Amino acid sequence: MSVRHFLTLKDLTSAELQQIMQRGIELKEMHKRGEIYEPLKNQTLAMIFEKSSTRTRISFESGMTQLGGHALFLSSNDTQLGRGEPIEDSARVISSMVDGIMIRTFGHDIVETFAQHSSVPIINALTDDYHPCQLLADMQTYQEHRGSIKGKTVTWVGDGNNMCHSYINAAAQYDFNLRIACPEGYDPNMDLVAEHSARVEIIRNTMDATENTDLVVTDVWASMGQEEEQKLREKAFADYQVNQAVMDNADQNALFMHCLPAHRGEEVTAEVIDASDSVVWDEAENRLHAQKALLEFLMTTAK
Ligand code: CP
Ligand code: NVA
Repeated sequence: MSVRHFLTLKDLTSAELQQIMQRGIELKEMHKRGEIYEPLKNQTLAMIFEKSSTRTRISFESGMTQLGGHALFLSSNDTQLGRGEPIEDSARVISSMVDGIMIRTFGHDIVETFAQHSSVPIINALTDDYHPCQLLADMQTYQEHRGSIKGKTVTWVGDGNNMCHSYINAAAQYDFNLRIACPEGYDPNMDLVAEHSARVEIIRNTMDATENTDLVVTDVWASMGQEEEQKLREKAFADYQVNQAVMDNADQNALFMHCLPAHRGEEVTAEVIDASDSVVWDEAENRLHAQKALLEFLMTTAK
């Protein structure tokens, strides 16, 4: 069987994503019961980080341990990748020694090139364009709190960034409608929006976009690599804060999500993120369970 990669949500079918979500829920229950389950014994996941991380590193590293395998943390600064060894060569060499590779980097083309030259599954753990692993956790979290997201309305508030792009893909794969409230100049990739125009729309006004919605999601205004734009972005996004008025405008059962790390007082108020309809802590924990299901799917079926 050919090697499967996970660079965006579109690398798996809707049915496979549902299967991974159900499996994530099961693996979570097994873990809470203290059940030992080690299908990845003697397997190694290489984890290449060119950007910072708390949740992604810890969830993949703990997940591999819990599945009976091993995770290898590789900071690009401490490998030859950081000194300019070609991605093609690195992919061939690293994949000859491990069973899976997780990469967090800048350009999405880097993970694509890695995948083209790797003999083992490549997992995108965030690029400038997509963050599909976070969506596995978000979709599991919605399912656990409110049941199926199919046919629901989700509102993305803020930057048209990597998370927003993964929400656009998720709208298609999990079958929900997506409203995107973002200021002009900070739109997501409009080709991607056009491709999904039947279920994705841009609405400039935050209140219009969140009216009666089932899920409100936001993210930082300046992503990793955009730190010097922070002040400029604070001005541009001033009307795109998720505050209590925005949540009150949503459906009374609406949930709030944020991939974290969050900046209280910027994209979200402390009142909202620390409220009972905010599920950010479950969302963060579910990175572990959802990715264990992904690792099991990719690393046992690839054999
Ligand atoms: N949400 C997320 O990917 O968090 P980290 O940057 O801490 O990994
Ligand atoms: N959009 C954010 C997500 C962090 C998990 C970033 O890319 O920095």
